[in-house]
Amino acid sequence: MNAFASGAGRAPAALLGCLLSLAIVAPPPALGDVKGLSKMGFGKTKDGEAVDLYTLRNGKITVKVATYGATVVAIEAPDRDGKVADVTLGFDSLDGYLGEHPYFGATVGRVANRIAKGKFTLDGEAYSLAINNPPNTLHGGVKGFNRVVWKAEPVDSPEGPAVKMTYTSKDGEEGYPGTLTTAVTFTVTADDALKIDYAATTDKATPLNLSNHAYFNLGGDTDSSILDHELTLAASKYTPVDDTLIPTGAIDPVEGTPLDFRKATAIGARIAELEGEPGGYDHNVVLDSKGGSLAFAARVYDPKTGRVVEMSTTEPGVQFYSGNFLDGSNVGKKGRVYKKHHGLCLEAQHFPDSIHHANFPDSVLRPGETYKQTTVYKFSAR
Ligand code: BGC
Repeated sequence: MNAFASGAGRAPAALLGCLLSLAIVAPPPALGDVKGLSKMGFGKTKDGEAVDLYTLRNGKITVKVATYGATVVAIEAPDRDGKVADVTLGFDSLDGYLGEHPYFGATVGRVANRIAKGKFTLDGEAYSLAINNPPNTLHGGVKGFNRVVWKAEPVDSPEGPAVKMTYTSKDGEEGYPGTLTTAVTFTVTADDALKIDYAATTDKATPLNLSNHAYFNLGGDTDSSILDHELTLAASKYTPVDDTLIPTGAIDPVEGTPLDFRKATAIGARIAELEGEPGGYDHNVVLDSKGGSLAFAARVYDPKTGRVVEMSTTEPGVQFYSGNFLDGSNVGKKGRVYKKHHGLCLEAQHFPDSIHHANFPDSVLRPGETYKQTTVYKFSAR
């Protein structure tokens, strides 16, 4: 597992931890007691499950998160003139999220990104997953973590309004081994950042890779592409892929390729140099930080509005996806038609298909370990 997974091997330490957690487990605060946090009904799933929408306000930003898919539904941030707009793609109502869409704002898991041919062997046992992105498995399968209703509770955090969403994925769900207990906590901090903390434990070894799939367009409500946004990535290397987007196993320098974003560069500047259909960026970059502790990963600047989002993460990789498969078939917020390159994703992650590559950071969580991941998206304007 990553450097953040901790073993619970030593008995005295485990006992002490247990006593401490008993001492600090308190009932969650009442919603009204958490400043900047509110909740409203967001409708029901087709099975009649109620979905809530939490609103978190702090500093200059407002974030909305739905319990369906632990989905970031909106991030409202000011531009350089103070004009506030929603900078994420998605829908105005739950119906849109219940329909077909490419993971707008969703929490993706149990394993974000692809597993080659939907098959893997772990501890001598073979597992088969749904092939929902032929010939591979993508983002946890047919009913991934983006398609379930999470439980939610307010959190009284010194950092700002927060909501903790939890989901227990049963042994065998979507073909994965082990019952996995997952918590994702969304906090909006006073310095205009959305912080997402993930934690998980399992009772059987399982591959695990949790991420958020927010699509950003810093232009806000405007109907435009992100090709003029300037991107910086703190990555000197990337993982080249085959034509089904599965890593070859190589870890190559970005130098001399259109993936070299070590200096801020417009996303559209070299996009035409990329091969393949539908064309565009859909690559895992290897962060120079190597993961393990929170470090700067990426910055996006929109010269038109001056908005900036700066991403930090504890993960070793980021999938930079330039919305290549957006084809106008999703009509989103305010009737906006999402066309190719109208949004970009920066998905903090372990490298795709890690389970098949011993040279990639280990993505297996074992019983007794706790998976932890933190990713922060901080907003500003200049
Ligand atoms: C993947 C893309 C995929 C998109 C939406 C990204 O994480 O890398 O290939 O099309 O998610 O599903």
